[in-house]
Amino acid sequence: MTTERTYIMVKPDGVARGLVGEIIKRFENKGFKLLGIKMLQADEQLITKHYEEHIGKPFFPKIVKYILSGPVVGMVWQGKGVVAYGRVMLGKTDPLKSEPGTIRGDFGIDSGRNVVHGSDSVASAEREINLWFPEGVKDYPRALDNIIYE
Ligand code: TYD
Ligand code: MG
Repeated sequence: MTTERTYIMVKPDGVARGLVGEIIKRFENKGFKLLGIKMLQADEQLITKHYEEHIGKPFFPKIVKYILSGPVVGMVWQGKGVVAYGRVMLGKTDPLKSEPGTIRGDFGIDSGRNVVHGSDSVASAEREINLWFPEGVKDYPRALDNIIYE
């Protein structure tokens, strides 16, 4: 059984628009398993660490300000291929370049308001899960896994 995990986060615009349930539903329907979930108001230190690869880029100050504008919902999802497929489910960074059927394609317009974050690699996922869930997350048995996986 795979233990691949990703960090998915509903950004403040997604929370404000009531899209938390919609996003959870899509990951649940796919068969991925929710291992951790929390709503929190990020502080500048946390969001700077989260987006440290973008420090110095032109959009960095505005993305920090945007994530600080309200609560986010951080989640850890587990499943086979969940990192790469989670990104497929999100769509492209720019919602206007994202296919319909993806979260950003269905619900966003501007990159700076693209509803949701998803880890871009297994290494990023591990780093982000440690950052947002320093207390850790625990796997648990789920009967459904015996139906979903061959
Ligand atoms: P990035 O990691 O490149 O995108 P993704 O979220 O798809 O992994 O950028 C992080 C966030 O920064 C992105 O979700 C939205 C914001 N951003 C902009 O506002 N403008 C931009 O031109 C880019 C590249 C990102
Ligand atoms: Mg990214």
